[in-house]
Amino acid sequence: MAAYRALEKLLADGKVRAIGVSNFMPEHLDRLLGETTVVPAVNQIEVHPFFQQTALQRKHHEHGIVTQAWSPIGGITAYRGGGKRSFDDPTLQDIARMHGKSAAQVMLCWHLQQGRSAVPKSTKPARIAENFNVFDFELTPGQIAAIDALDTGVRRGPVAESITLETHSMPIPEA
Ligand SMILES: NC(=O)c1ccc[n+]([C@@H]2O[C@H](COP(=O)([O-])OP(=O)(O)OC[C@H]3O[C@@H](n4cnc5c(N)ncnc54)[C@H](OP(=O)(O)O)[C@@H]3O)[C@@H](O)[C@H]2O)c1
Repeated sequence: MAAYRALEKLLADGKVRAIGVSNFMPEHLDRLLGETTVVPAVNQIEVHPFFQQTALQRKHHEHGIVTQAWSPIGGITAYRGGGKRSFDDPTLQDIARMHGKSAAQVMLCWHLQQGRSAVPKSTKPARIAENFNVFDFELTPGQIAAIDALDTGVRRGPVAESITLETHSMPIPEA
């Protein structure tokens, strides 16, 4: 709460244009909305076809909070290992073939058509360009429904409660 109130002050002082949060669960948002003044502009959370957090997205919608997807093309399903990679999913590959696009581009289009912000990451210039090249095609309602149906409900990132100063602290030498 103290950190968020500091963000509210930065906003009031005109030092930043918008403030938001990340990995807030419904109960965290309830507390934030109850105890502070400014509704966060975004909540950046894990969303990809295999994990969609639809109840949390509905809550965002009710309060005018933008859902911003991290791991939007399911990178975490690849680099965390131990399961099916989003990039290899047959449904996504079929839809990609129909549009002459890649599975990554289809996933990004799926986010944008559902009103989400998405922050894909790549270290490769060609893939960064590929990931921007998603504004010249549209998924059909049936294709969107097929991607929606890929949700497994299984979170790949850590639950918020497991993030503590002991497990995740990082010294900032210049601070
Ligand atoms: N708020 C949070 O708690 C949180 C947690 C995790 C991540 N994030 C942020 O979210 C951003 C993205 O998430 P992410 O990196 O986990 O996952 P992502 O963007 O869904 O996927 C990134 C992975 O996919 C590969 N990739 C990128 N474009 C591709 C393409 N067109 N085709 C095939 N593979 C492609 C990348 O490899 P190459 O680099 O080799 O292309 C990388 O391994 C990151 O910038 C990160 O800062 C936030």
